[in-house]
Amino acid sequence: MVKVLVTGGAGFIGSNFVRWAHRVHPDWHITTLDKLTYAGRLENLKEVMESPRHVFVKGDIADAAIAAPLVKQSNIVVNFAAETHVDRSILSAGEFIQTDIFGTFVLLEAAREAKDLKVFVQISTDEVYGSVATGESTETDELKPRNPYSASKAGADRLAYSYWATYQVPVIITRASNNYGANQFPEKVIPLFITNAIDNIQVPLYGDGLNIRDWLHVEDHCSGVDLLIEKGTPGEVYNIGGGNEVTNIDLTHRILALTGRTDALIKRVADRPGHDRRYCLNTSKLKSLGWAPKAQWESGFAETVQWYRENEWWWRPIKENDPAFREYYKTQYANRAPHA
Ligand code: NAD
Ligand code: TYD
Repeated sequence: MVKVLVTGGAGFIGSNFVRWAHRVHPDWHITTLDKLTYAGRLENLKEVMESPRHVFVKGDIADAAIAAPLVKQSNIVVNFAAETHVDRSILSAGEFIQTDIFGTFVLLEAAREAKDLKVFVQISTDEVYGSVATGESTETDELKPRNPYSASKAGADRLAYSYWATYQVPVIITRASNNYGANQFPEKVIPLFITNAIDNIQVPLYGDGLNIRDWLHVEDHCSGVDLLIEKGTPGEVYNIGGGNEVTNIDLTHRILALTGRTDALIKRVADRPGHDRRYCLNTSKLKSLGWAPKAQWESGFAETVQWYRENEWWWRPIKENDPAFREYYKTQYANRAPHA
């Protein structure tokens, strides 16, 4: 069996990846290491929890006593574990530095001593390029992160690269664009707006609503990572983008239409500080290896909205019963000024 360690595998993309990999690779034994922060949810893994080809370990990637032995026994490591929400990083950045940078350092140190490690995938993000007014970001572009989340991810991205350049750890770095799909924690714009709209609660649109994100279906992200495990070159960076540039206001209109609501639900609120205007990826490097996104934006997005409609059991306990989420929501939105 191929021994695979997936960190952050109880979160949105990590759990989609674990479920995907478990389905398509019967010869993989997957260990999920996850701290189960507010964003990590064991129910995301219920499809694989009973499988003899999967084991779940609760633990912190920054805790070498737990993480290092798991890395050292692995053939493949995919590091999804991170603090991921830009707005939270603006409120308080400490955990982002601790997990995204120091945690990655702990994994990389262990990887130096791993005997049979074929590949260490560091999941980075398009946000490391910073705001891109025109054109597309290519892998050799300068990194200009502008908020504590993207800066911590840029730190981890370059640290991972340095372990390739210095110690020949077989690192591959992926920079994906914004993901959409099932199991995304309802603090991020798509699940927040869908679930608010279902409940006829206003959706807080930041600033002028003209910021652009390039949306990637989470399963296309999984297939990209999977392909790179097989065909990627160590030491290289690969963009993974959906090619679906959408303004936030268009995204909001789409959500309202699919949930049967009107523009009356839009609440224009003060902008996010340092709000990146646009991200856009050039993905020809990954496409040259044979990858292409499968999801069509319109149908993939409609299916995503449908998933949240059909899986209220998944998000309602978070939004209604989790005191930490309610507190976060209050801090972020209750006294937010209107958009000027
Ligand atoms: P998420 O917040 O849904 O999940 C993160 C997971 O990491 C959670 O399960 C959490 O419990 C776990 N975790 C956090 N700190 C940990 C620690 N110290 N030790 C072990 N586990 C820990 O995030 P996501 O959206 O699934 O993002 C996954 C990865 O993909 C991140 O590295 C993120 O930067 C990157 N990424 C995300 C997007 C996106 O659109 N969501 C786009 C590009 C890249
Ligand atoms: P988000 O889902 O937080 O992802 P990221 O900041 O990593 O791109 O936000 C996506 C876009 O939606 C971003 O331009 C900010 C905007 N947004 C809102 O307008 N209102 C919100 O309540 C949130 C969470 C985001």
